[in-house]
Amino acid sequence: MNGLVLAIDQGTTSSRAIVFNQDRRAIGVGQQEFPQHFPASGWVEHDPEDIWQSVVATCRTALQQANCRPTDIAAIGITNQRETVVIWDEETGKPIHNAIVWQDRRTASLCRKLKAQGLEPLFARKTGLLLDPYFSGTKIAWLLDKVKGARKRAEKGELLAGTIDSFLIWRLTGGKVHATDATNASRTLVYNIRDNAWDPELLDILRIPASLLPEVKDCADDFGVTDKELFGAEIPIMGVAGDQQAATIGQACFEPGMMKSTYGTGCFALLNTGADFVSSKNRLLTTIAYRLNGKTTYALEGSIFVAGAAVQWLRDGIKVIGKAEHSGELANHADDTQNIYLVPAFVGLGAPHWDAEARGAIFGLTRNTGPAEFARAALESVAFQTRDLLDAMKKDWKVNSWKTVLRVDGGMVASDWTMQRLADILDAPVDRPTTLETTALGAAWLAGSRAGVWPDEKTFAQSWALDRRFESRMDEKQRVAKLKGWRDAVRRTLTKT
Ligand code: G3P
Repeated sequence: MNGLVLAIDQGTTSSRAIVFNQDRRAIGVGQQEFPQHFPASGWVEHDPEDIWQSVVATCRTALQQANCRPTDIAAIGITNQRETVVIWDEETGKPIHNAIVWQDRRTASLCRKLKAQGLEPLFARKTGLLLDPYFSGTKIAWLLDKVKGARKRAEKGELLAGTIDSFLIWRLTGGKVHATDATNASRTLVYNIRDNAWDPELLDILRIPASLLPEVKDCADDFGVTDKELFGAEIPIMGVAGDQQAATIGQACFEPGMMKSTYGTGCFALLNTGADFVSSKNRLLTTIAYRLNGKTTYALEGSIFVAGAAVQWLRDGIKVIGKAEHSGELANHADDTQNIYLVPAFVGLGAPHWDAEARGAIFGLTRNTGPAEFARAALESVAFQTRDLLDAMKKDWKVNSWKTVLRVDGGMVASDWTMQRLADILDAPVDRPTTLETTALGAAWLAGSRAGVWPDEKTFAQSWALDRRFESRMDEKQRVAKLKGWRDAVRRTLTKT
């Protein structure tokens, strides 16, 4: 078998590994969930050893299912939950603490302190990010300050730090390579995305020694080879990208003005702005979409922390629905005369509000409100939040040729009702592709094209195929009324104005 690529998709709640053949079809899949740790309110951790074990196990399952030899795999592509950080011992490879996950809010007070010092504009100008606990920098600072002896060991050069991709590269190569790619680096709060380099001034502010950090490479590059013991042969690692950037690539959003939105636990919308670093005036992020052959393509990003998680809450938290996949069907039967708004600020609100202290709220309950109205409110909250992002993007990037078409992926997009409502609220077309494995596919394309076994960007983009386009069917009056109700609900939920 020729031209096979193994994609590792290390996500927030599970690890997946997929063997793709040259037709970009998945021929072997492994998936494993791993435990989530919540040691205090607002804290979220993963045991890096759980992550590692699940990655190795799922790769083995995928290879077995594909019925191929390890030598058939031309290259590995890695994509990962972003911002989550690990610090480990260079000698033993052992983490000094659990990984601090992107959702973790423990550094909120440090972020507040830095903001009070007037430092947010400096960070925004250099990194495109805001001072929010979401990003890696303050999490690394916390680990160095709070884990006994960590700072001393870091200064002596005994420790290494990185996002999950770096940790996996280190382990997969048997401790030979400490590297990351530009997209993952762009989420750390200490990487200057204009100069494409770790920023000494920002490292200094956060007191992070540069020696801890990995080398930053292009997304399609040489990241070393896997230790032979792991899979029975040395396999080159040739592609790396953060999961939302990998989905942007998998959705073939290669042209400026193209946009994708992924609906998983949260929702992340990325708009390709080409070579333009667009500074947001509307609280969006500027980030690296990808860096290929040394050329950086930027994106405007809107990050929403709760999308599918709102449906999970209905199912597991308050138990008003049985199966997540039935939520669309249920919402379809909701009473139209009831205006229920759910603001799912369970872990604060992300873009464009960035209110870490806000908490979820529901408005408009009556004696007749039941599961169907709850389901509709949860699904509509995802559409409303996406609309807020889109409005902010339109204000930030005033390019005439930009016609909004949203390419969607992630678990929630299987629901026709939800996608129709999304198109209704956005008043823009929503395109659902035939391949919904866009994140893994993006990582596979990076590795496969680098290895010379997959086609170039243009041919790959041509192979993107539409399953269904959803166009708005809602009349303008209804949309305006709904948006007004949503904005009012958000205003009442925010802790700051
Ligand atoms: O920025 C966080 C994002 O990368 C997490 O994605 O799909 O693992 O929830 P996911």
